[in-house]
Amino acid sequence: MEKVIEAYTGVTTQGKKSRTPAKMDVWLTATGVVLALFMMGHMLFVSTILLGKDVMHAVTKAFELDFIFEGGIPAVVSFFVLAITIVFIIHAILGLRKFPTSYKTYIKIKEHAKMMKHNDTSMWMFQWVSGLIMMFAAMIHLFIMFTQPQNIGPFGSAYRVVEDHMWLLYVVLLICVEIHGSVGLYRAAMKWGWFDGENPKATRAKMLKVKKLLSVVFLTLGVVTLLAYIKIGLENDIAPGQKYQPTNSSKIINN
Ligand code: HEM
Repeated sequence: MEKVIEAYTGVTTQGKKSRTPAKMDVWLTATGVVLALFMMGHMLFVSTILLGKDVMHAVTKAFELDFIFEGGIPAVVSFFVLAITIVFIIHAILGLRKFPTSYKTYIKIKEHAKMMKHNDTSMWMFQWVSGLIMMFAAMIHLFIMFTQPQNIGPFGSAYRVVEDHMWLLYVVLLICVEIHGSVGLYRAAMKWGWFDGENPKATRAKMLKVKKLLSVVFLTLGVVTLLAYIKIGLENDIAPGQKYQPTNSSKIINN
């Protein structure tokens, strides 16, 4: 009962302000920062295809720890996917608290944002709309990565993008994730005053520029990368499950 009173009134039975909402906000930011950093690394890893099929193949195999286990173990990637999925779910559950819970509240927030013409408030609205889309779209991608880690590679990925029509899901995810990530980092920095310094107003203007730059750079990289996978998928008659054979290799390599 004490917990119910605390949740509804925001005050503990000892008459102190409840710390739970603040603690949840700290975890929301912490998991968000982990995911944003992961997504930057993820984009760099996926975009190695731009350096050639052999490079992406080598990176894939390194994730499978082929430098320790001969040929690599794809299940290692599944463990990694599971860890990211858990962080993703925690972040989504904590973020759900910020969603409007009814049509009435949604309209109230929308009108409020329109009236205020305040950029940061509109950005906040984009955060939960894109978050909602990602809750569905990212889970499809994560499930496939978890169950088919052996099909990651220049041919496996290109086949999925073209023949399995995953490009459609990736276009939606790409837009949501890159903007959600950069807006999220910007809003977190503003909220917790990480870089406030002497002149918080000037810092805000600088941070906005960094945010825009991050969005543009990663969105462009994402689009070019996606086009590279589409090109490989269209130019090669890839059979389902076909593994890429690196050039200058006499070994039969998986992927
Ligand atoms: C550990 C977890 C993850 C792994 C191992 C992974 C792996 C991959 C791989 C290998 C690709 C290349 C295409 C393919 O093989 O289908 C890809 C593409 C993509 N992934 Fe992930 N991914 C992970 C998590 C996520 C998450 C959480 C998101 C977003 C919420 C995401 C968003 C995307 C997007 C947007 C693309 C397309 C990128 C492009 O423009 O080319 N991924 N991912």
